[in-house]
Amino acid sequence: MNRRPRRNRKSEVIRNMVEETTLSVKDLIFPMFLVEGSGKRIPVDSMPGIYRYSTDTLLSEVESCMKLGIQAIDVFPAYPESLKDAMATESYNPETFYLKALREIKKNFPEICLMSDVAMDPYSSDGHDGIVKDGKILNDETLEILGRMSLAQADAGVDILGPSDMMDGRVGYIRELLDQNGFTDTSIMSYTAKYASAFYGPFRDALDSAPKFGDKKTYQMNPANSQEALVEADLDMEEGADFLMVKPALAYLDIIKLLKDNYPLPIAAYNVSGEYSMLKASAEKGWLDNDRAMIEMLTSIKRSGAKIILTYFAKEFAELSK
Ligand code: PBG
Repeated sequence: MNRRPRRNRKSEVIRNMVEETTLSVKDLIFPMFLVEGSGKRIPVDSMPGIYRYSTDTLLSEVESCMKLGIQAIDVFPAYPESLKDAMATESYNPETFYLKALREIKKNFPEICLMSDVAMDPYSSDGHDGIVKDGKILNDETLEILGRMSLAQADAGVDILGPSDMMDGRVGYIRELLDQNGFTDTSIMSYTAKYASAFYGPFRDALDSAPKFGDKKTYQMNPANSQEALVEADLDMEEGADFLMVKPALAYLDIIKLLKDNYPLPIAAYNVSGEYSMLKASAEKGWLDNDRAMIEMLTSIKRSGAKIILTYFAKEFAELSK
């Protein structure tokens, strides 16, 4: 045997030297949940370790995350039923608690990279990402609402908008509107290949945003498809997206690789709620080692081609890397 691969694994030093993928807290975006009010820190039952914060408690949580080296967060609002309607009107009310919180975050921590969510579902009485008419999701009419929401978020000081709705043409529509209104520096991280996945379950618990009827299969992608991801990526590229995102991450590593190999834009992946909860549940039972499995999961997402990872493990990872 003149070739023995084990020689490159024989010591910690050599293993470190030949290591191809290194995770850094700088690669991570921490998704956080916001509720109205003050003094709140409500656990999400299906996501142990994750909470819904009111603006005040969120600000102190952001501060402790930043001390750990976290540089980017993505904030998702949970709205009470009383503020939802068919047209998601609350989403662009300048006085709404979400927009006020985004402003506060940027005021207190100007150096943070702040990402927001662009989609109707948290504000929609139908729980869908678009306007519903006769049981159908209207595409072009929805763009107008997404546009208003985007301008309001850009005005609140958001650095990166995250359209997660999967309506056709939304990236171009939002880009044009931002530019016309002087927000040429506001970035767009498009949810390029977002699949109709079972792994969003715990997130919808956290936000009480599950669809009131049907599913999201007429706009989110079929988990059985990969070619379609190329069509979506072509469009987002043309329409002006700054980042392409794949979501979920773990069951879609091939899609991450596909986009990475075919597009020059930075690829992001969303390690979603169900992927988080799956590990938490088995770790609680003592079936998996939480820390090792977490690092292995995040490393595999990066290895497959994602430079940026949105993950609920961000704070834990940051604590572990201290
Ligand atoms: C909705 C949205 C979803 C997530 C992010 N934005 C859920 C959905 O499409 O129903 C899921 C995130 C997660 O599961 O962690 N616009």
